[in-house]
Amino acid sequence: TLPTEWQNFFSEFPKAELHCHLLGTTSRETFIDLVRDSGAPVSMEEIEGFYTRGEKPVGVLRIFRALEAHILRKPEYLKRIAIEHMACVSKQGVRYIEFFWNWTGLKHFMTFEAAQRAICEGLREGEARYGVIGRLVPSIDREATPEDAVELVSEMIAHREPESIGLGIDYRETNHEPENFWKAYFMARDAGFHITAHAGEFGEHWRNVETAIDLLKCERIDHGYTIIDNPELVQHAKLLNMPFAVVPTNSYYLRTFTDEEWAQKHPIRRMHEMGLKLFPNSDDPTMHHIRISESWYLMFNFLGFTLADLRAMVENSIDAAWVTDAEKAEWK
Ligand code: ADE
Ligand code: ZN
Repeated sequence: TLPTEWQNFFSEFPKAELHCHLLGTTSRETFIDLVRDSGAPVSMEEIEGFYTRGEKPVGVLRIFRALEAHILRKPEYLKRIAIEHMACVSKQGVRYIEFFWNWTGLKHFMTFEAAQRAICEGLREGEARYGVIGRLVPSIDREATPEDAVELVSEMIAHREPESIGLGIDYRETNHEPENFWKAYFMARDAGFHITAHAGEFGEHWRNVETAIDLLKCERIDHGYTIIDNPELVQHAKLLNMPFAVVPTNSYYLRTFTDEEWAQKHPIRRMHEMGLKLFPNSDDPTMHHIRISESWYLMFNFLGFTLADLRAMVENSIDAAWVTDAEKAEWK
């Protein structure tokens, strides 16, 4: 374990969290509460299983599906989850946070408009109470159809909220290529939304990273690890000054590496050595058993980044945040 002064250090310096899924921040206590309140057919054993296994990414997606199918019956639940997580990260130096959130799987319970309004109310309340700026990034469920994605973006355009600023894509990458969703991305970009995409996360070919950058025209990439297999693409991303929102607790390499290999060959280290612009994030903090401050600590303690590296990564995360230049100048 880390000496207290280091724990304090990693919790105290100001930081931005740009890769975090709203459902993946649900605490165990709240999960239990919501199951009770909604009367969803989910047993205590299942919930305990969700929270004790230290789920790998694919396992986390199963938990998301349970939440979407049975539990998240009311928009106010989403609001509650957002406020609780803002309270949590306000104690870890987070000044700005963007939440990914998928509507497609919740369509059977609520309209996009009602859900988005509730979350954005939560973000405003969280900011008022805890001083953390919160933004929403509705995200395409890539296991659903391209038409569902177009519907999502149509809803975003029809019901704009000031906090809802961009479009992402998540869920399982395998056999769900980014190019399938080009139309939704083009619509969002035309309508002035920022765009990012999960790509190169599940051990897929670097092609998905290339597609996200060159076809979808993403301003940012979530994960992106497979880019290390293509030095020309790395060069291209560097020329574009492309930021990568990486997650030290989540990479396909984790499945096969020993701890030592993990530190030396982790794609996040390789990405840094190849000169890419990156910064750590938590992804699904309660389900990966990681706090955002600990993600930064892992970069230092396991992945061997120096404090100077981390200082530069703080700047990277601020540069990559979807805020105006005036807001950025104020923070720096
Ligand atoms: N949704 C929540 N966590 C995710 C992850 N790590 N990859 C893709 N979709 C997700
Ligand atoms: Zn993610």
